[in-house]
Order: sequence, then C-alpha cells, then structure tokens
Amino acid sequence: MDQLTTQTRHKLPFTPVIIKRGLCYALSFFVILISSIIVFNLGDFPDPLAFVGNFFPWKLAPNQRRPPSGACDYSYGRWVRDENYPIQMYDENCPFLDPGFRCRQNGRKDVEFLKWRWQPDGCDLLRFNASDLLERSRNGRIVFAGDSIGRNQWESLICMLAQAVSNKSTIFEDKGSPITKHKGFLSMKFQEYNLTIEYYRAPFLVTINRPPIDSPAQVKVTVRVDELHWYSARWTGANVLVFNTGHWWNKEKTVKMGCYFQEGGKVNMTMDVMEGFRRSLQTLKSWTTKNLNPERSRVFFRSYSPVHYTNGKWDDGGVCDAEIEPEKNYKKLKAEAWNNQYITDVTKKMTYGNWKVQFLNITYLTAFRKDGHPSRHREPGTLPNAPQDCSHWCLPGIPDTWNELLYAHLLSMEFRTK
Ligand SMILES: *[C@@H]1O[C@H](CO)[C@@H](O)[C@H](O)[C@H]1NC(C)=O
Ligand SMILES: *[C@@H]1O[C@H](CO)[C@@H](O)[C@H](O)[C@H]1NC(C)=O
Ligand SMILES: *[C@@H]1O[C@H](CO)[C@@H](O)[C@H](O)[C@H]1NC(C)=O
Ligand SMILES: *[C@@H]1O[C@H](CO)[C@@H](O)[C@H](O)[C@H]1NC(C)=O
Ligand SMILES: *[C@@H]1O[C@H](CO)[C@@H](O)[C@H](O)[C@H]1NC(C)=O
Repeated sequence: MDQLTTQTRHKLPFTPVIIKRGLCYALSFFVILISSIIVFNLGDFPDPLAFVGNFFPWKLAPNQRRPPSGACDYSYGRWVRDENYPIQMYDENCPFLDPGFRCRQNGRKDVEFLKWRWQPDGCDLLRFNASDLLERSRNGRIVFAGDSIGRNQWESLICMLAQAVSNKSTIFEDKGSPITKHKGFLSMKFQEYNLTIEYYRAPFLVTINRPPIDSPAQVKVTVRVDELHWYSARWTGANVLVFNTGHWWNKEKTVKMGCYFQEGGKVNMTMDVMEGFRRSLQTLKSWTTKNLNPERSRVFFRSYSPVHYTNGKWDDGGVCDAEIEPEKNYKKLKAEAWNNQYITDVTKKMTYGNWKVQFLNITYLTAFRKDGHPSRHREPGTLPNAPQDCSHWCLPGIPDTWNELLYAHLLSMEFRTK
C-alpha cells in the first residue's frame, strides 16, 4: 500500500503542469476551461451530455422485454407511488451531503418526487438494511470511481449507511476535507466499522495529460485511452468497486475544447469519441483482469444516468424545473445511450478469477425520473441565470434506488457472509 501511495504521489506533478499551461495560454478560453474542469472540477457541468443523435437507433421496448426466467432483472419495472415507503431513510440534514444536492434547502418546494418506489417486474427489491451492509463491509473499503454522478451516488450511500450509526461524529472524512465537488478524492471513514467509502473523480476513468511536445497546436489536453487513471493504484484492494463514466464522452467536452485522444506517445487526431471510449474500456478491462483479486473485490459498472433537458440543451437554456412527477408515458423515453452498449459489450468479457464485472443497469428506471433533478435549485451562490442542473440528482432521491440495486446484487453474491 505504501508503495502504491508513493507511485500516486510521483504522478501528482501533472496537475500543476496543467494549471501552469492554462495560465500561459490565458488568452485561450478553451485551455482555461478544460484545465479548470480537470483540475478544479469547476466544470461540474449540469449536463456534460451533449451527444444528441448519437443514441443507438433502437428504442427501449418495455412490453417486449421479460427478465430471463429464474434471475431477477431489477432494471426493468415501474415506479409506484408509496407514501409510506421508507426510501427517505435519511433527509437533507445528513451532514455528508454537498450543498448542490440539498434541493429543498436550495428552495425546492415540492416533495412529491420523494414518494415513489421502484418496483421491478417479477420480483421485489429487498429492503435496504444499513446495519446489515455495514456489518458485511466491516474492515473493508467501498470505492466509487468516475464522474460527478458517481459522487452523487457515493454521497447517497454514505447517508443511507449513516442511518444505522447512532454517533454521527464517528463518521468523518479521513483528512477532514469538506464534502464538495472541488475535491478529486474523498474517503469517508465509518470508525465503528473500520470501513471507508471512497470517491475518486476520474471522469474518463483513464488518464488526462498535457500533450506530447510535438503535438499540433490545437491539442491542449489529451485523454490517454491506453492508460488507466493514476488513481487506479488505490482501487485495487477495494471490497466493492463501482465504476461509472459517460457524461464526458462527447465532442463538446473533448475535441471541440482541444482535448484529443492519445495512444502510446502520440496524439491520434482522427480518433473519435466513440472509438476513444471503446479503447478506454478495453484499458479498464485489461487492468481489471490483471490487478483485481477475485477473492477480495466485487466489481460493478453502473450504466449511464440519463439527463432531462427540455426546450434546449444544458448549455442553451434547457430546463426541468416544471417536472414534479415521473414520466408516465413509456414511449416518451429516449433511446438507450450508445455508451451503455459499449459498456455491456466490455463488461460481459470483463472476468477476473471466477467473477464477472456486474453491469448495474439503472438507465431505464432513471429515465422516468425527470422530476428528480436539482433544476434551478442549485447550490447557494449559483448565479440566477446559470444553466439548470438536469443531470445530477437531489438527495435523498434517485441514486438511493441505484444503491438499493447495488445492495440487492451484493446480497445475491453473498457478499462477505462468511
Ligand atoms: C438496461 O435495462 C433496460 C430495462 O430492462 C433494457 O431495456 C436495456 O436494454 C438494458 N441495457 C443494456 C445495455 O443492457
Ligand atoms: C438488518 O440487519 C441486521 C444485522 O444483520 C439484523 O439484525 C436486522 O434484523 C435486519 N433488519 C431488518 C429490518 O431486516
Ligand atoms: C481495518 O481494516 C483494514 C483493511 O481495510 C485492516 O487492514 C486493518 O487491520 C483493520 N483494522 C482493525 C483495527 O481491525
Ligand atoms: C461520539 O464520537 C466521538 C468521536 O469518536 C466521541 O468523541 C464522542 O464522545 C462520542 N459521543 C458519544 C455520545 O458517545
Ligand atoms: C487513429 O485511430 C484510428 C481509429 O479511430 C485508427 O484507425 C488509426 O490507425 C489511428 N492512427 C494511428 C496513427 O494510430
């Protein structure tokens, strides 16, 4: 572990280099923008997803789908109204929520969005039992790695688990850091259980770098599709690993900002986003196979979390603040995101020991929940004319259901029962 930490430290100097570079090119809007996105995460964009038209042509066809007999398919079902459902296992007073997700404190008045429960077709979702999951995770580590939607889910799980801990002061960030989007790495310690729940911001999962010296001038930053993020050194010993990515894999957040794909020592000017994504997943696949101990780690890849902008996209006036209940019309649901298809293709082949990486398919159930976003109730200090946030989720809220699915999967794997 010490050695791993040292490796991680050695690589840290890239960060200041990117900052300096950003300053040098002060005139270049794109550099600054991308540097701030990468370094400070200022670009916790309400919606990084802008690849309209890149969806797979096939549509979700709920009526034609049935779970395979025997296995329960939690991904398919419906939202049912349930006043008494204890999904609000916690509330906004949970001290581990960052300001951007506390929608009611930020002015959201309606509460109906909290009164829906996900009902899978053909089976029931087990009730989340915080003390049970804590007990199973004792002396362990649960790791989330990916973009800011992963942080959304991480905070949800912390608050869900904290309900079973009577003395909340025994839960704290390892280095005393505040829970904010401005940190790239946060580790929440549950002292009574000697458990940490960690979040690593790695929006592409692979490394982001300054370009090689002889690169064309328009290349400001590169995504190294053949090298996993240097944080990965810290992912190996985890008992549960939940990956996610997707919201950054589009032209607007990459090539249009001077962020190109690199393989080996060279920038590949013709590689497009889909190919870059596919290759990065291959990189994750080889890393998983080589580095994970099947006795120790259960690995999940969460599917794409849909966004809900109407009357425009995230950066040109799209809104969702009028939505106070889930979508009722199935036919209105958008087609599956193309990246999910890539993720399933790769996760199917991602085996380590006797285990397969589990695809945590939350896209369909989440697509209904246009009512779950912060919309204009963003964190205090957000300018009134700032874009609405229709990509992250209010907490408590939809990511709680993702964690219920995660829990159900862990139980079915008999996670650390012995
Ligand atoms: C995810 O689940 C939905 C609902 O069951 C299904 O329609 C979709 O095909 C699944 N996606 C993938 C990539 O398996
Ligand atoms: C939750 O799990 C704990 C510990 O495993 C168990 O004692 C308790 O009965 C469970 N609670 C419910 C409501 O199932
Ligand atoms: C706490 O958990 C770690 C593994 O994450 C383990 O190495 C260590 O021995 C545990 N400490 C105690 C006091 O049990
Ligand atoms: C709660 O935990 C904190 C930190 O471990 C400790 O200082 C405090 O005494 C505990 N409070 C109670 C009531 O046990
Ligand atoms: C660049 O990437 C494309 C795939 O997008 C590939 O066909 C091509 O061979 C690559 N070019 C070089 C020089 O590696």
